[in-house]
Amino acid sequence: MQDRLKALAEAAHRDIAQARDSAQVEALRVRFVGKKGELSQVLGGMGKLAPDERRALGEIANTVKAQIEKLLADATARAEDAAMEAELKGPKLDVTLTGRGQRLGRRHPVSQTLEDVVNVFARLGFGVETGPEVEFEWYNFEALNVAADHPARDMQDTFYVDGQWLPKDAGTALLRTQTSPVQVRTMLAQKPPIRAVMPGRVYRKDSDATHTPMFHQVEGLCVDTRVTFAELKGTLDAFNKAFFGAQVKTRFRPSFFPFTEPSAEVDVSCVFCKGSGCRICKHTGWLEVLGSGMVHPNVFTHAGYEPGQVTGFAFGLGVERIAMLRYGIDDLRTMFENDSRFLAQF
Ligand code: DAH
Repeated sequence: MQDRLKALAEAAHRDIAQARDSAQVEALRVRFVGKKGELSQVLGGMGKLAPDERRALGEIANTVKAQIEKLLADATARAEDAAMEAELKGPKLDVTLTGRGQRLGRRHPVSQTLEDVVNVFARLGFGVETGPEVEFEWYNFEALNVAADHPARDMQDTFYVDGQWLPKDAGTALLRTQTSPVQVRTMLAQKPPIRAVMPGRVYRKDSDATHTPMFHQVEGLCVDTRVTFAELKGTLDAFNKAFFGAQVKTRFRPSFFPFTEPSAEVDVSCVFCKGSGCRICKHTGWLEVLGSGMVHPNVFTHAGYEPGQVTGFAFGLGVERIAMLRYGIDDLRTMFENDSRFLAQF
């Protein structure tokens, strides 16, 4: 019987060492130490032994059983580790799939144009000033010599702001319709000489293929003791050449703005047909790019300057308009739809 126990222990050692998974370990448990397993079978004949022999054999049998159970426990631990390992290494996550790259954005054509305009004037010695988009009527109109009955002041054209949150005597608030009020704010805050451009958003009640309720302007102001119209012409011609190309010509046409006298509309020779006439310049050879003039004495007075002591020129240009000319864009609204297929072209 002892020999059979020894043989059983050896078989258990050998077979349990080879178990690969917990199902196999379980089958070996049943086979060796289960109720009807091999150990029980060997011990089945114990009843016939003498009490001494039975005790001695019982001790050996217990040792063998303990050994086998230890082997089974170790085998279970190995099987579980192997299963965990397999799961971690397993091919469930396919790391070989090509990733979706991050697409890099780019600056909006309006931002690029605005920055380029400001940079040209920076090289001509102009600084940058800014003002609020929600503005008082006084800065946007009165101070700029725009009469109370001027059509621009109509509810149809201007977004007025319900200023309940303002102090009672603060005046009427609106969304500025032009960057020109920043001229007044700058003069009120600084002594001449002034040389500054003032970029920003402006708002008008307008919406079609050539107008959007919000657009961008760059205002310009140069004030000193004896600034002349010749300097206005030289500055804007230098701007046109730097921005549109050295070959362009500049033309000044008499015009009217309430805040300048005299006033001039500034044209650049058509950048598409080089002045010979095409669809874009409506066969005139010229493209209108900005408004300008010599600062009106009334504006100086509102800004706290003595009209006889200073002179100056001012100008204002529409950023979307020159961006469209520069890139050959024909519908203004595409600028604000934020379609990346459109924006990626510039
Ligand atoms: N503020 C004018 C507009 O929005 C543009 C303009 C014209 C500005 C002449 C000026 C200027 O400073 O001198 O139409």
